[in-house]
Amino acid sequence: MLDTLKPIPPDAILGIMVLYRADQAPNKVDLSVGVYQDEAGRTPVLECVKRAEGEVYSAEDSKTYVGIAGNPGFNRGIEELLFGSGHPALADGRVATVQTPGGSGGLSVAAHLMHRANPDTRVWLSKPSWPNHLPLLRLAGLRLEHYPYYDQRAKRVDFEAMADAVGRIGSGDSVLIHGCCHNPCGADLSQAQWQALADLCERHGVVPFIDFAYQGLAEGLEDDAYGVRLMAERLPEVVIVASCSKNFGLYRERVGAVCVVSPDRERNLRVASNLSNIARGIYSMPPDHGAAIVARILSDAGLKALWMEELEEMRLRLNGLRTLLADKLAERGTSTDFSFVANERGMFSFLGISREQVIRLREEFHVYLVESSRINVAGINQRNVDYVADAIAAVLQA
Ligand SMILES: Cc1ncc(COP(=O)(O)O)c(C=O)c1O
Repeated sequence: MLDTLKPIPPDAILGIMVLYRADQAPNKVDLSVGVYQDEAGRTPVLECVKRAEGEVYSAEDSKTYVGIAGNPGFNRGIEELLFGSGHPALADGRVATVQTPGGSGGLSVAAHLMHRANPDTRVWLSKPSWPNHLPLLRLAGLRLEHYPYYDQRAKRVDFEAMADAVGRIGSGDSVLIHGCCHNPCGADLSQAQWQALADLCERHGVVPFIDFAYQGLAEGLEDDAYGVRLMAERLPEVVIVASCSKNFGLYRERVGAVCVVSPDRERNLRVASNLSNIARGIYSMPPDHGAAIVARILSDAGLKALWMEELEEMRLRLNGLRTLLADKLAERGTSTDFSFVANERGMFSFLGISREQVIRLREEFHVYLVESSRINVAGINQRNVDYVADAIAAVLQA
């Protein structure tokens, strides 16, 4: 049986990681990683997580399964973060939430739900999008299409082209939108663009599918939820997937959720039972530890305030590094205007340089980024920013 399997080439980003680890240069810089890093290059455990973890640990008296839908306190906390309190969809009892193993688990459960509802469902992904969207959604049987999103030359969202494509999506199909901090391009929708998109989805019966993996890391917890809240107010059906990997720094604990908004309570109950049934069929029960930590943080005023402070610190660091790098590149008089890096949000941006220039950065300057020229701005710090700016300016010159 196993003879029929063909080898799958390793993930390109993992390949760069291997090269980076093998590089002995003391001045090497890794801008390829997919996780947040602090000034010292660490991906720390947040203090609020440490404290909540201690409390969870000492209160825990059993390792029996949590329910299929996960920790109810976690699910309530996530709903409130996503929708804000008093949102009509929540008040009307039209939101079904299931705790999932990370945002990836949420995407998978959501994809299976859409496929179960209609095996012909097509989902449109932004061009570009997070590469893992493809296998996650395809494995559920969904048919995937693409809509234009990022204009690589103008370094901005090509909203006209996006709107034109969404306007041609058929009723009942779905458009996957990054809630904020677009991965990989960092270019987010403005509030006016969210409104225009809500109009289009409403007019054409398109179901918004929002991947919300970075709440709190663009403009702040509330502002980042603008699109999610608007869509859930305007559209009868919305699928939202949240991740606590980045904003709680809980990557390996695998904490996320899928929240589905339905037109009425009766359909909400049907959706909830299907979500649980799908989760049961994929992994049976979600892991507990990370969700218990998040539930603890969100239900304790002191811990929540500490989390919000720590999240704000990460957000301000990312945005500060964006401005710093753009300024350093401007000082070097590069032929390319990099001010877009300061305007984009989240961890990722495309530098917009060629594959050859990316390779030169790696081979001559020990600066590692993925071949698409995507950088993780969190890999920059006060010690390496001048070196990185010099290296980019050098490869642009020759
Ligand atoms: C756009 C996007 N969606 C979802 C995820 C899922 O993250 P996780 O499964 O670690 O929660 C990520 C992680 O990098 C992401 O960038």
